[in-house]
Amino acid sequence: MKNLLLTLFSVLIFLPAIAQNQKSFQPGELWPDNKGIHINAHGGGIMFYEGKYYWFGEHKIEGKMGNRAMVGVHCYSSGDLLNWTEEGIALEVDKDNPDSDITQGCILERPKVIYNAKTGKFVMWFHLELKGMGYAAARTGLAVADKVTGPFTFVRSLNPNAGEWPLNFADELKGKNWPDDLKPWSDEWVQAVKDGMLLKRDFQKGQMARDMTLYVDKDGKAYHIHASEENLTLHISELTDDYLGFTGNYIRVQPTGHNEAPSIFEYNGKYYMITSGCTGWAPNAARLLVSDSVMGEWEYVNNPCVGEDRDLTFHSQSTYILPVEGKTDAFIFMADRWQPQNPIDGRYIWLPIQFDDKGLPVLEWMDSWSMEIFDR
Ligand code: GAL
Repeated sequence: MKNLLLTLFSVLIFLPAIAQNQKSFQPGELWPDNKGIHINAHGGGIMFYEGKYYWFGEHKIEGKMGNRAMVGVHCYSSGDLLNWTEEGIALEVDKDNPDSDITQGCILERPKVIYNAKTGKFVMWFHLELKGMGYAAARTGLAVADKVTGPFTFVRSLNPNAGEWPLNFADELKGKNWPDDLKPWSDEWVQAVKDGMLLKRDFQKGQMARDMTLYVDKDGKAYHIHASEENLTLHISELTDDYLGFTGNYIRVQPTGHNEAPSIFEYNGKYYMITSGCTGWAPNAARLLVSDSVMGEWEYVNNPCVGEDRDLTFHSQSTYILPVEGKTDAFIFMADRWQPQNPIDGRYIWLPIQFDDKGLPVLEWMDSWSMEIFDR
């Protein structure tokens, strides 16, 4: 009996240590943090700061209501990207004030954090839907912190670029009007959306902003990339120097292309974006887009996935592309395998980005892989 108790005791004592000895990435499996609990940071992004990676994502709860923001944005830290330490809730939803934009029960998705060296502030933007309005508000939310792990303070939420035309929008379309009764998805309707019908509809109040990511370019300029115009068209918006607002400079990408879940990286002088199509929590085929600059002309390339389940992005949806520190041309594609019936059980699909003989990014399923893959 004494021996049994001793064994039990040592198992309990050493459990966290065992859980923290992850040596390889295992896409789709449970991923325990330093407390042995599956990481709860969905739709996330990662920031590197002073020698450590910080993973920010949606804290989900059990059951069907679990996709509502009941807790906030969860933060984890890691030195090696495999073993993660729980750092607590970086941005809490407001549990006391029903009038707050981020009141408990709102929808708060895909948070991303960047560091502004000029102000010394950590800046978080996220997709926000006001409580009780479904997905109608389509806003972006802003929160700021002095410390990387937070606490982040909510600043405001908005529909961006009110009163501004995109930089790549033809002058002759600005005065165009359309009949109110165009049949959705008819050829005329699709053409009207391409020509800016929804853009114009939202011109005064600001544009819709749903699935989003942030990107800081080499020159320190930051961009907010989001699904707009009823998820039909991506917008890339320049942020102000302090990253706390929109300059009003923005472009439309692939009008009516139906791109969601944008993730972006730079490789070999080109900018690549991996997005998904638009099928809610259900997976679909990823899309690869390329451009010579962030605000340049984005062109569709292909579905970067190869092999079995390539048309379902291996049952996942993109959220972020992470450049690995200290390695050249090493990028990790981060995606979510959503579990809408029990969101807390959502899994993370991390795969190394490989490049084909034309230098184009390729994603291939792997049951298990480690950092050595980048030492090629
Ligand atoms: C997905 C989107 C998710 C979430 C979901 C809700 O298309 O990427 O972030 O918004 O729809 O159905």
